[in-house]
Amino acid sequence: MAEHPAYPVGLRLTGRRVVVLGAGQVAQRRLPALIAAGADIVLVSPEATPSVEAMADAGEITWVRRRYEDGDLAEAWYALIATSDPGANSAASAEAERHRVWCVRSDDADLATAWTPATGHSEGVTVAVLTTDARGRDPRHTAAVRDAVVAGLRDGTLVAPHHRTRTAGVALVGGGPGDPDLITVRGRRLLAEADVVIADRLGPRDLLAELPPHVEVIDAAKIPYGRYMAQEAINNALIEHARQGKSVVRLKGGDPFVFGRGMEEVQALAEAGIPCTVVPGISSSISVPGAAGIPVTHRGVAHEFTVVSGHVAPDDERSLVDWPSLAKLTGTLVILMGVDKIGKIAETLVAHGKSPKTPVALVQEGTTAAQRRVDATLATVAETVRAEDVKPPAVIVIGDVVTVGP
Ligand SMILES: C[S@@+](CC[C@H](N)C(=O)[O-])C[C@H]1O[C@@H](n2cnc3c(N)ncnc32)[C@H](O)[C@@H]1O
Repeated sequence: MAEHPAYPVGLRLTGRRVVVLGAGQVAQRRLPALIAAGADIVLVSPEATPSVEAMADAGEITWVRRRYEDGDLAEAWYALIATSDPGANSAASAEAERHRVWCVRSDDADLATAWTPATGHSEGVTVAVLTTDARGRDPRHTAAVRDAVVAGLRDGTLVAPHHRTRTAGVALVGGGPGDPDLITVRGRRLLAEADVVIADRLGPRDLLAELPPHVEVIDAAKIPYGRYMAQEAINNALIEHARQGKSVVRLKGGDPFVFGRGMEEVQALAEAGIPCTVVPGISSSISVPGAAGIPVTHRGVAHEFTVVSGHVAPDDERSLVDWPSLAKLTGTLVILMGVDKIGKIAETLVAHGKSPKTPVALVQEGTTAAQRRVDATLATVAETVRAEDVKPPAVIVIGDVVTVGP
């Protein structure tokens, strides 16, 4: 008989009886999806793996503790035959055929009337991959196709824009510290779906080169601001593009809410009535030290870490930082935007009691190809920054975690 391709279909099993015969590894793998589909699952098996037993204990399935008997499939809509007894599998298969119950057989795909596809999920779609015919069955290949599609959808390398649900608006996306692999899956997907991207200098700039040619990429630093403040001009640009019905991504370095002025943009958009979604990002304050081999906490060394902006000097009247109190902390200090003021900062910390020998590390352009780390102490850091010509962007770490190392 000529082999015809299988006909793909999505079964809506809510409240419908599904009979599973056997409770070994196959059943254990398949049961969670059947439970998720809301099926009324009857499991027939004299014993079960501990995980399957736990599903029965939790009331997710009804477990009949015996071998298969003729008649078990009479009321079923769908069956999974997966016992270790070939005779029972054949008898159950024959019964399924009699009752016109679609059935999967774990031991012989050729004899089954249904096949389980390799499935995965991404943002509201289920990807299900089937082999075209029984002779060509190659489960590893179908799983690999599934993985490739799901991974592509998740990381945005496979672009499948949402047409029905896509609404104009702004996504404030934390791009991570710079390495293009360190953006979130959601951020990358939104980027792939954007019409307009307004990007900062910091963050994963390499990703911008991958965007399709129709995407308008705007450098936030170059938005002319005339009579406005730079931030107001950026807010206005976000609002204008969103009002034109476009999907706008505001791509920021690190996390949008860590010295990123993210909430100012959220507020401006809310005032203008523009929908806005915020996608967190990996902040440089933790990831850049980590990339240079410095943990911001370590058992027995630091039980806290404090992230501080060093963009104004400690004696500047605009400073909101209580440096004398920070000098008394025993944990790690992480300073962002502090390269220019590190001399004054170190002086102030020492003046208020921190040891001049406290280790300091400066990590410049962390997670990028240009990453470099320069070590010093509070006593030497000002001179080291000059001598080594350390330039922003850099994260400065102060504390004993600097010398923990592997
Ligand atoms: C305006 S703040 C933005 C911080 C960002 N929102 C975050 O969560 O990482 C900019 C500062 O972050 C730090 N920074 C960001 N990315 C960095 C990187 N790849 N390497 C070193 N420092 C970085 C530097 O201290 C820089 O001056």
